[in-house]
Amino acid sequence: MLRNADSAVSGQELCTKLGVSRTAVWKVINQLKEEGYEIEAVSGRGYMIKSYPDTITAEEIGSMLAEDSMFSNISYYPVTGSTNDQAKLLAEDQAPEGTLVVADCQKSGKGRRGRQWISPAGENVYFSFVLRPQIDPSGASMLTLVAAMAVLDAVKNQGIDAKIKWPNDIVADGRKLCGILTEMSSQMTCVNYIVQGIGINIHQKTFDAQIADMASSLDLASQKSIKRSEVLTDVLTAFEIYYKMFLRTGDLSLLTDEYNENLVNMGRQIRIIEKDTERIGLSSGIDRYGRLIAEIDGHTEYIVSGEVSVRGVYGYV
Ligand code: BTN
Repeated sequence: MLRNADSAVSGQELCTKLGVSRTAVWKVINQLKEEGYEIEAVSGRGYMIKSYPDTITAEEIGSMLAEDSMFSNISYYPVTGSTNDQAKLLAEDQAPEGTLVVADCQKSGKGRRGRQWISPAGENVYFSFVLRPQIDPSGASMLTLVAAMAVLDAVKNQGIDAKIKWPNDIVADGRKLCGILTEMSSQMTCVNYIVQGIGINIHQKTFDAQIADMASSLDLASQKSIKRSEVLTDVLTAFEIYYKMFLRTGDLSLLTDEYNENLVNMGRQIRIIEKDTERIGLSSGIDRYGRLIAEIDGHTEYIVSGEVSVRGVYGYV
């Protein structure tokens, strides 16, 4: 209520709307202050929020999302192994679509291709959510591109000039800002559930030697200090919109144009790296299945994500 109000909210109004006593309100206000919220008691008028801490607890995220958001079932862990693994456990336990797991720190964060995702506390956002789309399992990889579009929106909202590197990296100044890991449990023709995990570098300033020359963070790219909760909730809000568009057709038909407008590889020479071979092609964007269309040696090829990696001719982008 304090967050949504333009001016001070009286103690009486809080008591009446929440059906609690003055003492209960006072206790919660003090608890919020302890958590780092700066709350001013304006004499005779009530309480006002002056500033927010950089917290990503379930309460904080829940209070920033729309009331009818699909992400209404939120768990927060100060420390966990991997939010993807937590979300999978919940999904196995019949957790509904939109179940969200957020962590401040991951001890065994997972990247693609069995790599590690280093996940220090207080620096970044790590979150995963459960989806239960009624689609053929072969279409699940398209959701990675849907998530990339949502992350891009959130990053751009912070004034950063970022692009998508196919299929799902978000890059600014040629450096990667985020990682997306999509995992699925399915039968031959139907999806049981999909867990989509997203890690976005927010405050991190230094990176492991192996990735130091291709990783960056939102603070570094924007030269300011960004609130983690804002980025996280912007991703979720945008994701819900794009996801609904995806479900309408079961593919990326309604999203292809916007994706291609933001594709860093668009119209560029790319290196297509497949096991031991490397070929050069000219990229002309994605088709409605999320495949990258490339002209290679005079013919058109449709590149499927997961099987190959695509890089710029001179480096990562
Ligand atoms: C990549 O390799 O680019 C994908 C990295 C995905 C990292 C995120 S962080 C939240 C979620 N939990 C994990 O263990 N991994 C994903």
